[in-house]
Amino acid sequence: MNNSPLSLLAKYDVPTPRYTSYPTVPYWDFSSLTVAKWKQAVLNTFKSENGELCIYIHLPFCESLCTFCACNKRITKNHGVEEKYIAAVLKEWQMYRNLLPATPTIKEIHLGGGTPTFFSADHLVYLIENIIKDAVIKDDHEFSIEIHPNFTTEEHLEKLAAMGFNRMSIGVQDFDPDIQFAINRIQSYKKTKQVFDWGRKCNFTSINVDLIYGLPHQTIKSIEHTISLIRTLMPDRIAFYSYAHVPWKSKAQRRYTEDDLPPASEKWEIYHRGRMLLEQAGFTSIGMDHFALPDDQLFVAAKQGKLHRNFMGYTTTESKLIIGLGASSISATKNAYAQNEKVVEAYEAKINDGILPLVNGHFLNGEDLLIQNYIHELMCLNKTTLHKELHDAEFLTSVLSKLSSLEVEGLVAIEGSVITVSAKGRLFIRNICASVDTYLFNKEMAGQTFSKAI
Ligand SMILES: C[S@@+](CC[C@H](N)C(=O)[O-])C[C@H]1O[C@@H](n2cnc3c(N)ncnc32)[C@H](O)[C@@H]1O
Ligand code: SF4
Repeated sequence: MNNSPLSLLAKYDVPTPRYTSYPTVPYWDFSSLTVAKWKQAVLNTFKSENGELCIYIHLPFCESLCTFCACNKRITKNHGVEEKYIAAVLKEWQMYRNLLPATPTIKEIHLGGGTPTFFSADHLVYLIENIIKDAVIKDDHEFSIEIHPNFTTEEHLEKLAAMGFNRMSIGVQDFDPDIQFAINRIQSYKKTKQVFDWGRKCNFTSINVDLIYGLPHQTIKSIEHTISLIRTLMPDRIAFYSYAHVPWKSKAQRRYTEDDLPPASEKWEIYHRGRMLLEQAGFTSIGMDHFALPDDQLFVAAKQGKLHRNFMGYTTTESKLIIGLGASSISATKNAYAQNEKVVEAYEAKINDGILPLVNGHFLNGEDLLIQNYIHELMCLNKTTLHKELHDAEFLTSVLSKLSSLEVEGLVAIEGSVITVSAKGRLFIRNICASVDTYLFNKEMAGQTFSKAI
């Protein structure tokens, strides 16, 4: 058997979930959740978490369309949309506040997008002021924002810092001009550095940079150049994402063809070269696609076995209650997920009618919770223990057979019921998690559901 990385790549670079939730969204069963059940789940988790929660706010507007982007966004240059949208988000927060029996303690606020700084600094201040009034803010809170440098001013960062924002994540993707042209995202190093420097000046203690491997026209040379520029900025963290090619969902990705993308073997080499350069620059790989400097909290948490994962990726905070506000946002409790209406106008209309705008969700059963825990441990601790006695025989046989193939390939080690992910297995973590996914076992879904695993 050929267990070289290239042959494993050929075998495993198939559509696979990213496991930012379990069950993964395509397998949610919305009929298992009613609004009443959802509210009860929020209340129960609020109580068991002693009133602590995290808030994700989706701000979907962008002025310009980056063709590679797979996020939920709305392209417009009309800033008249800002006030109406913020009013809806605040009404939604009020609906949750009316439900909660006590003052919440906010551990985290994350502003994601879209481009959150599409909104004026004053509108963002108004939004946050109204979210945090009548709430307790934890001393070691993390308030973070996703930043597109082209649309961010110093005033944004100064005003956000004054509201307690201490983390930012800057989208770069790649600095190569041909790639930037192909993805319709012309973003200079100079502008990126300026925003980075403003962030440092405003005491953003953790700055992350997003890079992507596998973009159209990307080569080893281009990633070397991009990382050499990133080294001069020295962010605290780097997310080095695998490009998700999902043209059936993100239609703008059809503006280039698959021939423009690096073939799988080259994509792998770009990743390896990038990873080596990041390690040479002092970053350590954490989890799947995250890198951090040794004094960053994500690195410390990983070392102490305290890493967590949610819809936004790896985090240091365990958040059993995440309230997602805004169009398309996902909320999570201990045993349920719920997703909001994705279309801005429909989201606003439901909120204005006083209805929680849920359009999808899932209530986790006992087996879901068990497997959710395996996947969480595999992703965050590289190790999990199977409770073989709790699964039905047919499923268990399939899991054990898949795991033993993974063991032969050197991706996991199996000792009794304990499964440990090897260093080589880290890159194939999505495939390893897929081996214990009951939904994949039960119904092999048609090919084009997930982006490829690597
Ligand atoms: C939703 S964007 C928001 C950030 C901000 N709007 C920007 O463009 O800088 C967050 C990150 O998602 C990642 N992303 C978006 N589409 C992706 C795709 N198709 N494959 C991999 N990563 C993607 C990018 O790295 C991007 O920086
Ligand atoms: S990458 Fe960011 S700025 Fe570009 S379209 Fe996506 S969300 Fe908007």
